[in-house]
Formats: sequence, C-alpha cells, structure tokens
Amino acid sequence: MSLDIASPRRSSEAAPQPDYTRFCQGIKSLTGIDLGQYRPAQMERRLRTFAERNGCRDLDAYLLTLKADKVALDGFLDRMTINVSELFRNPERFQELEKNILPDLLQQHPRGLKVWSAGCSYGAEVYSLLILARELAPRATHEFHAYDLDERVLARAREGVFAPSDMRNVSPERRTRWFTEEQGPGGPQWRAKDELRRGIQFKRFDLLKDRFPTGFDLIACRNVVIYFNDDAKDVLYRRFLDALVPGGVLFVGSTERINGSEAMGWEKAGTFFYGRPG
Ligand SMILES: C[S@@+](CC[C@H](N)C(=O)[O-])C[C@H]1O[C@@H](n2cnc3c(N)ncnc32)[C@H](O)[C@@H]1O
Repeated sequence: MSLDIASPRRSSEAAPQPDYTRFCQGIKSLTGIDLGQYRPAQMERRLRTFAERNGCRDLDAYLLTLKADKVALDGFLDRMTINVSELFRNPERFQELEKNILPDLLQQHPRGLKVWSAGCSYGAEVYSLLILARELAPRATHEFHAYDLDERVLARAREGVFAPSDMRNVSPERRTRWFTEEQGPGGPQWRAKDELRRGIQFKRFDLLKDRFPTGFDLIACRNVVIYFNDDAKDVLYRRFLDALVPGGVLFVGSTERINGSEAMGWEKAGTFFYGRPG
C-alpha cells in the first residue's frame, strides 16, 4: 500500500533531471523503496554525491552499478537513510514527556501504554521512551514497537548497544539502572539491560508503503519526515492521527511542525506534541 500521491510538484521545488527520475524508478523496482516521495532537491544532491564517489558520471551509470553489485547496493541503502540519533535526544522534550505527557497518558491507561517509535534508527529513541514509561509506571504492562526501513540499524537496535556519544543525556543513575558498561571493539560502550531489550518489538517497515498499525497511546516520529516531500508528510500525519487512540499523542522532532494541523484534526498537546482529541 504505497502513498500513491499524484498531486503536482510544489512550485518551490525545481524539476529533477531525467536521470534522477529514471534512477528512482530503477531503485523502486530493485528494492521497493520509493525515493520519489523524499524531498527531491535534497535527495538528488545526495545521490549525485554517492554516484560520484562510486566513480559514476551520472545516475544512469550509478543505477547500473547498484543492479550489478550487491555490496554497492548495501552501501547505498546505508547512506540513503540518515540514521543519526542519541538517547534522550533534545532532553528538554523528554523532560516534558516525563513531567506532563506520560503522566497524563498513564492516568488514562494505568494498565500500560502502547507506544510506537516510527523511524527508530538504532533504537536510542525507543529505549529512552521505555525507560521513562518503566520509571513512571513500573508495574504496568507496556507494549513498545519500533520500526525502521533499514534492516542494518534494526539489527543494532535489537542489540541495544550505545557509544559514549549516545549517552551524554543519560544521568549516572539511569546509566546504572538501565545499562551495563562493557568493553567494545572501539572502546567502552553501554548495553541496555535485557529487561529493556525484551520489552521492544523491532520490525522493518516502510512508512511510505506499509499499512499502519493502530491503537497507540503515543507515537514518536522524529527527524524522519524531514526527508519527505510535503504531500507525503500530509498523508503520513493523517495516518498517524488514525493510528492513535482518542487522547493519544504524536511526538515530532524539534525542527518539525504539522502544517494545517488543526484542519487535519490535531490539537496542540505541548511543544512538539500533537494530540488526537479525546
Ligand atoms: C535521523 S533518523 C531518526 C531517528 C530517531 N527517530 C531520532 O529522532 O533520533 C531517521 C530514520 O528514519 C528512517 N527512515 C527513512 N525513511 C523511512 C521510511 N520510508 N520508513 C521508515 N523509516 C524510514 C531511516 O532509516 C533512519 O533510521
């Protein structure tokens, strides 16, 4: 079920070169990933840089390379999705979650929360959310789902291993309570305890293509839709609204806002939080 957006390109976006359009079609039949729904100027620039680094003069030549070479295709998929994340990214937003949003949700659902990290990357976001839920309601049974397009980051997320740079917003108490420090190949690293890892269901999922799950109290979709074009964003935000229970909350990234949120049916629930009316 792809988004199938047929509306014309917004006037602010320059028309892509024909080899970019052919490249998108080729990648779609090769991998099922629809690059046409990412912001074209940004994506085209990145792809031309990858092509050049791979010694290809244009995107037609790059597509031929990717069709012939599985290693090059894996490398392309790795770089196409930007996986930057960290635990408690934008800590002031996680404080708002801890002080306001989660206590409200737990009052509505004292037996436990159903939460979705959509575009979870290597798991830093969903582990942070689960830590808060477990601290605020240790006896409740929470259901946590974390989905991403990229299998490689999902494999890392299941391991729950974090570099010191991921940990800078994690207090010493939380480090001790929820992680174990160990020696990794590149130096010290932090492994999430089994009780956290067992609490999250990770899955490969394409937000632009797959059928959305439903019934969530909280959805975090942060720093993912920034790569999508405006039409794809509109469709996704409508689908997130349907995926929440009444009274549920969507948590977006700290540079993101939903255009026309009220007309779409959202109400403001906080800074970078949108609610489905109860
Ligand atoms: C910058 S990371 C955001 C990680 C986390 N949400 C955060 O804010 O720290 C963006 C993630 O979105 C994922 N992504 C990109 N396109 C996607 C799609 N169509 N469906 C699902 N995930 C996608 C990428 O693989 C990447 O892991």
